[in-house]
Amino acid sequence: MDTIHIRGNRRLNGVIPISGAKNAALPLMIAALLTDETLKLTNVPRLTDVRTLAKLLGVLGTDVQRGETAHGDTLALTTPEIVSTLAPYEIVSQIRATFWVLGPLLARCRTAKVSLPGGCAIGARPVDLYLKGLQKMGAEIDLVEGYVLAKAPNGLKGAVIRSPIVSVGATHTLLMAATLADGETVLENAAREPEITDLARCLVAMGAKIEGIGTSTLRIEGVERLHGATHNVVADRIEAGTYAIAAAMTGGEVTLDGVDAETFDAALSVLRAAGAGVDASQGQVRIFRNGERLQATDVVTQVFPGFPTDLQAQFMALMTTAEGESEITETIFENRFMHVQELARFGANISLHGDKALVHGVDKLTAAPVMASDLRASAALVIAALAAEGETTINRVYHLDRGFDRMEEKLSACGAEIWRAKA
Ligand code: EPZ
Repeated sequence: MDTIHIRGNRRLNGVIPISGAKNAALPLMIAALLTDETLKLTNVPRLTDVRTLAKLLGVLGTDVQRGETAHGDTLALTTPEIVSTLAPYEIVSQIRATFWVLGPLLARCRTAKVSLPGGCAIGARPVDLYLKGLQKMGAEIDLVEGYVLAKAPNGLKGAVIRSPIVSVGATHTLLMAATLADGETVLENAAREPEITDLARCLVAMGAKIEGIGTSTLRIEGVERLHGATHNVVADRIEAGTYAIAAAMTGGEVTLDGVDAETFDAALSVLRAAGAGVDASQGQVRIFRNGERLQATDVVTQVFPGFPTDLQAQFMALMTTAEGESEITETIFENRFMHVQELARFGANISLHGDKALVHGVDKLTAAPVMASDLRASAALVIAALAAEGETTINRVYHLDRGFDRMEEKLSACGAEIWRAKA
């Protein structure tokens, strides 16, 4: 397996182009199952998760044509007909988002057999909300040998679905299913992450009728068929937030190019509170810190527009050298603190108390061999390594390749000493 090496204690200075969002690109690709015409996506990040999903879509009947541009990949996805409604364990166990094909398959073919999902090991991550929502729309659901068997012999029907908790994946799945259902579906307490908004906009461009985009109530009037469209994937707010934190950690000045500050405002506010400089203008965010030590700051992860759980690990890395004690509360996933023991290897002082981590800032971090446990935790290790004295080796970097497009290239261009050793 490849390893990433970082010689730390260097400031970052420069411009980082922000790629298209992984968590938008994946549901957008799945939306191609809803039409027999071509869905063309631009600004698609170059990631293994995108390739894994493309493989699954190929099995289901989608022709995927990939092109490269300076601003990410272009994917032309065409599904003349669904040739299989079976999403196998071997693929669905690799990334959780592949499970979301359940909605479009059921809507278009009235039947689907989809393996229960895998994905990052950050909690139990059940799928009850997806299944209850689809049942309300008239689907019959059985669980057999690790697979969800879903049938809607008379087609899906519009329904009012109120989710007890906000779920990104269930919202994506039910939103896609509802576009082709008979009648109106109302999704109450829906997720309103920018990636949901991006999917909804793309579905509208494909002919879907959706009201309330960007709010927690989505009203979808089902249509007979959807058509092709061209859609540009929204910028990755988590990638942007990760590099913003890296810049605050190392000092220097970094401009994040091609991302709107509103999509990660909660993270930028916390960075300001900790003492980093943040300037936002149209499509760009500048982060800077000149010498002053950061102050410990508390965060609580929340659904959008709150502080995202996908930046919790990275922010914890930042707080390891801040002055004072910060309390980090994880409310979305019950087991998302696996990075704590790896950060300790750099000399960080963190104690865990249920859903809270108390981080006592230390004067400096020192390099260590560490192991990536999940995607965002890997980014936290990179951030710690960029500030640590000495050379860090990060193992299991396939986690990073799942979600960060050309990370070494982007950080090297800002002066980081980072390189990959091929297996
Ligand atoms: C999405 O996961 C993201 N994944 C995650 O990013 C992100 O951390 C998460 O949303 C929260 O923002 C993608 O977009 C591909 P949820 P998802 O359903 O949809 C519980 C990354 O690193 N729940 O909003 O799986 C669940 O257990 C990944 O890019 C149920 O109880 O998250 C969790 O506690 C990691 N029953 C909470 O809801 C259900 O049926 C929120 O999960 C569904 C979810």
